[in-house]
Amino acid sequence: MAIQYNKEQNVFRLDTKGTTYMIGVTKEGYIGHIYYGKRLQKAYGNYLLRTEEPPFTPAVRKREKSAFLDCFPTEYPTGGIGDYRESCLDVRDESGSIGCELFFQDYKIQKGKPRLVGLPASFGTEEEVETLEILCKDAVLDLQVTISYSVFEANDIITRNIKIENTGKQKLRLEKVYSACIDMDNRNFEMMTLTGSWARERHIQRGSLHYGKQLVSSIKGASSHQEHPFLALVTGNTTQETGEVFAMHFVYSGNFIAQAELSQFDQVRMVMGIHERDFCWNLGQGEIFQAPEVVMTYSMQGLGTMTRNFHDFYRNHLIRSQYKYKKRPVLINNWEATYFDFNSEKLLDIAREAKKDGIEMLVMDDGWFGKRNWDDSSLGDWTVNEEKITSGLPDLVEKVKEIGLDFGIWFEPEMISPDSNLYRSHKDWAIQIPGREATQSREQYVLDLSRPEVREYAYQCIASILHSAPISYVKWDMNRQLSDVGSTYLDKESQGELMHRYMLGVYEMQERLITEFPDLLLENCAGGGARFDPGMLYYSPQIWCSDNTDAIERLRIQEGTAMLYPLSTMGAHISDCPNHIVGRTTEFATRGHVALAGTFGYELDITKISAQDREQIKGQVELCHKYQELIQKGDYYRIASWDSYKPFDAWEVAAKDGSEVLLTYVQVLAVPNAHSTVLRLHGLDALAEYSLEGTEISYLGEELMNCGFLIPAQPGDFKSSLYHFIRK
Ligand code: DGJ
Repeated sequence: MAIQYNKEQNVFRLDTKGTTYMIGVTKEGYIGHIYYGKRLQKAYGNYLLRTEEPPFTPAVRKREKSAFLDCFPTEYPTGGIGDYRESCLDVRDESGSIGCELFFQDYKIQKGKPRLVGLPASFGTEEEVETLEILCKDAVLDLQVTISYSVFEANDIITRNIKIENTGKQKLRLEKVYSACIDMDNRNFEMMTLTGSWARERHIQRGSLHYGKQLVSSIKGASSHQEHPFLALVTGNTTQETGEVFAMHFVYSGNFIAQAELSQFDQVRMVMGIHERDFCWNLGQGEIFQAPEVVMTYSMQGLGTMTRNFHDFYRNHLIRSQYKYKKRPVLINNWEATYFDFNSEKLLDIAREAKKDGIEMLVMDDGWFGKRNWDDSSLGDWTVNEEKITSGLPDLVEKVKEIGLDFGIWFEPEMISPDSNLYRSHKDWAIQIPGREATQSREQYVLDLSRPEVREYAYQCIASILHSAPISYVKWDMNRQLSDVGSTYLDKESQGELMHRYMLGVYEMQERLITEFPDLLLENCAGGGARFDPGMLYYSPQIWCSDNTDAIERLRIQEGTAMLYPLSTMGAHISDCPNHIVGRTTEFATRGHVALAGTFGYELDITKISAQDREQIKGQVELCHKYQELIQKGDYYRIASWDSYKPFDAWEVAAKDGSEVLLTYVQVLAVPNAHSTVLRLHGLDALAEYSLEGTEISYLGEELMNCGFLIPAQPGDFKSSLYHFIRK
């Protein structure tokens, strides 16, 4: 049993194969956090609630209640009653005051995991997951809060979410609802996050924790290029293989906060949830608010274990798509090849040449609709531009299929251009503050997806195109953030609900899309990687990682992304050089090796690239077919990092049964007067013999794992090599 309740001790114990999480209830009914860490066999440890030491619990010394609340390690802190650390729940009542105090009422343990209505969330069978629901109540507000924990025993993962129900008569206003909190004592923690910008998303950042609050967040209406809904606290010496890691990751794609706070008593509070800025939710009598899910994992074997816990969990319990373990098509996308300057003939030329080299799908990117010849018009007018697609879309798709390629198409369904028929007829469909000219970004506005008729319109535009021709793939893009957050649809009191209602609208549309078109391969994208998050992964098995396709820039982006996400989810393409964003020239082979660590494809004009590059495509496509299954299903190990001032980068994927390992090495900068470099591999059978493909050499597994493999010194920058070891 993964979840146990000890009545005498009043403690809940949640066990996964390698971890234990314990929650205790005090005499008064406060719900406290006891422990998260290495798996325990028998202990209940409720002395860690420290109710026997000053300031004591309110039952013992009522006059010290505030001192008690301000240091009690709580499972779900509420605002307004004396805990001055970050609260997770702020409720304003009809009198206008904020105050909420939760007491334990009841609990329920069940096999399986209930769905979260309207939200992406992890799932599992009754054999795979057990759920604990702790019901608590604020009697004054007549508010019921359910704190849920789902325990995925085999994955060392616990997920949490919060459900709030107004069981009383007054109208309540939720001004902040975070989804999870962990209170624990400091262990000289460092904080790890992912930060970046457009074209350099998800770089790893690490620094020591100091007193006060440290956070990453987004208030942009998307999880963002800049910060990521992830937070880990790690002990100071943590490496890939050693050290303790406490990690939280948010299954949500909109505004978020991920914060660690070191308090006066050296206690750390880690919280995660929807950002309180631009958030409120009115909760009338009998109404329920469901907050999104947080995924937590603990590792005492460093970051690598955290990574593999997330990878296995996302592959098996978050990505629903039938494609998660299926072969993905090697695609060619025309964006960097043509930008907006294309027509049917150009696309067919690309398709014909691509077919010769074994490429399997043509994706028609931005610019095929309305009168969109640049990024300044037509979003919302999803009718085919017949000046470009001269014989119509069904005919183009048919011709591409005759050539032997599948067809994919780009949409940006959440947007509206001021220069569009849609805007001219429905100005009120754009997000805006009445009386104020809304801020444009990329010369576009965002559609108000809180309006049902807007969602219906946008959805039908996509659906009718998909019904018009056999289209196998959709790239769903989102190229600006939200601003001027106002809705002409919502009433005055509900304006603060817009940001979250927007996200619920996106989720509803994507749910509908994959339900109506179950065979569609959906790839999410947001101006590169601004919405690469677990929420989106629930709907699409792959997400465009970044607009930056330079092989060297991609090392950092893909290292940060792969720290949390399986390689099979990372959109990675080979583009032309000099690279359009950084102007760098790298070898075609290196670009190929880097793109192999993701969903492999091309983003270049195959009719124009040099003969020398072109000659390599066939072989690269073959490599992709050869290794795709291993890369999709295997265990990923980060071996060396260009990001941590090494002149090279290296990672491997090992088959779960130890039968093969693929090692990728990228020499970013050549080192003068260098010897060979030793890389230690992982995930092999210690006593089995492995041959290095393409050579007569073989090694013992224990040799490769402990003594290491020698990468020969070689001159030249931006060079790469793949090494494939096969068990004999
Ligand atoms: C941003 C995406 O990341 C690109 O790949 C491309 O689809 C453009 N948008 C098109 O506008």
